[in-house]
Amino acid sequence: MKISYLSAFALSLTLMACTDTNAPTAKGPVADIAAGKVIAERDCKACHGLNGKGIAPAIPNLAAQRAHYLYNSLKEYKNGQRSHAALKNMATNMSEADLRNVAAYFAGLPPIANTAGDVKHSSPYEQGKVAAAACAQCHGEDGNSKTPGTPSLAGQQPHYLVAAIQEYHQGDRAKGAMSNLREADKLELESLALYFAAQKPVKRAAPSFGDPVAGEPTTALCGGCHGAKGVSADAATPSLAGQDAEYLVKATKAYRTTRKNWGMQRYISGLSDKDIDNIAAYYATQEPKAADEVPTSTQELAAKCDRCHDQDASPTMAAPKMRGQDKDYLVMSLRAYRDGKRDSSTMHTMSFPYSNAIIESLASWYASQPAK
Ligand code: HEC
Ligand code: HEC
Ligand code: HEC
Ligand code: HEC
Repeated sequence: MKISYLSAFALSLTLMACTDTNAPTAKGPVADIAAGKVIAERDCKACHGLNGKGIAPAIPNLAAQRAHYLYNSLKEYKNGQRSHAALKNMATNMSEADLRNVAAYFAGLPPIANTAGDVKHSSPYEQGKVAAAACAQCHGEDGNSKTPGTPSLAGQQPHYLVAAIQEYHQGDRAKGAMSNLREADKLELESLALYFAAQKPVKRAAPSFGDPVAGEPTTALCGGCHGAKGVSADAATPSLAGQDAEYLVKATKAYRTTRKNWGMQRYISGLSDKDIDNIAAYYATQEPKAADEVPTSTQELAAKCDRCHDQDASPTMAAPKMRGQDKDYLVMSLRAYRDGKRDSSTMHTMSFPYSNAIIESLASWYASQPAK
């Protein structure tokens, strides 16, 4: 499947980024595992266990992790590239040999066996599908609305869908039919949005009002944001192609009155009611196209990550092993890369466009896999 969320991969997937030139080589100093164990017992056990299992959620497992990754991480805490006060302190007081030895100790431990059912995994698509049952009576089973005045959601930009629902909740849009919806958390909204965005939008027949041919020239005003023929390429701007015509009229006029959106208010202020009918007829009859495809299975996504993170990949890979890692820790790390709080050019590019729903699903997937 083509996954645009992941187009960043294509650019950043230089395998050079995967191998680590700072890794201790066979020629480097040999680590003293027994000396490492002494340090672990004294300084690390309280949080990472002597067996390398994080003692609480969000503390990473260290057992069987790649030695040079552990070593590099400790250096990063030391020099401030990663921030954690206690680790910075400890690492600062450790010699090069100490760092190497303690890394070797944890790396040499057997992997932590995760108990089946420790972490439940389900993809945002599956969660969204379940939640979408509450929307079907109005927006259609697959997000293609057959009710005049009710918008289709199929193929719509997922970021836009989340923002639109929040606007109803916040009162930036009059709620109308949407007022009976209970408030959903962000994760659930994102899952719903990913589900609808992945549905195929269907082409519509011409509406009984408006003149598409007369509408077309006026849409020159709109195409810069809403895309050629109403197919938006921008995550925050809705596609209009194939949308229900009555809804388009109602929504456009609502920017004159109840809908708050500075950009849109400016652009529609000069339009007459007749212009709006014609524009609606034009957009409604254009060929709709789904937002760049969104990932529907976590395994598909994870396959991309495994190019660098695979357990069986070369031990000189710079990327850490993730299977069986603590789920909360994985969520936290991915958000940290995305939000610019943890420095790694490779991982930042990778996690930048990810919604919380995708991060949650990737983290739960990896955490639920047996560690090796
Ligand atoms: C007070 C609790 C605590 C102690 C003690 C502690 N750690 Fe940690 N350690 C953490 C936490 C929490 C994190 C995750 C921090 C973050 O988000 O970067 C972490 C992360 C790490 C990481 C990064 C792992 C990864 O997957 O990126 C390494 C390596 C590590 N610790 C090694 C050690 C070593 C070696 C010691 C003993 C010298 C030690 N830690 C002592 C709590 C602790
Ligand atoms: C009772 C019918 C009804 C139900 C149930 C309903 N909606 Fe709506 N929805 C509407 C109508 C009507 C509008 C247009 C409101 C307006 O004019 O702003 C709308 C608007 C929206 C929009 C804005 C679309 C756009 O293009 O701006 C989104 C997103 C949305 N609904 C999502 C949902 C989701 C998700 C659910 C289920 C959790 C749901 N709706 C349930 C009737 C409904
Ligand atoms: C500067 C960028 C921009 C321009 C130009 C623009 N729009 Fe929009 N439009 C947006 C954004 C952003 C939204 C989402 C606003 C919101 O969240 O309510 C939107 C929303 C809409 C909606 C609501 C769609 C829905 O699904 O609810 C309609 C209809 C619409 N625009 C029509 C038009 C028309 C017609 C024009 C040209 C006359 C136009 N827009 C020009 C950015 C733009
Ligand atoms: C091009 C290679 C590459 C790809 C592809 C890649 N990563 Fe990474 N990843 C790395 C490197 C290198 C690090 C270590 C960076 C650092 O030191 O902070 C890392 C670190 C991480 C960490 C931190 C783990 C820890 O123990 O602290 C997580 C979580 C992570 N990646 C998840 C992912 C996910 C999920 C994907 C797929 C969407 C992915 N990575 C794809 C190279 C990659």
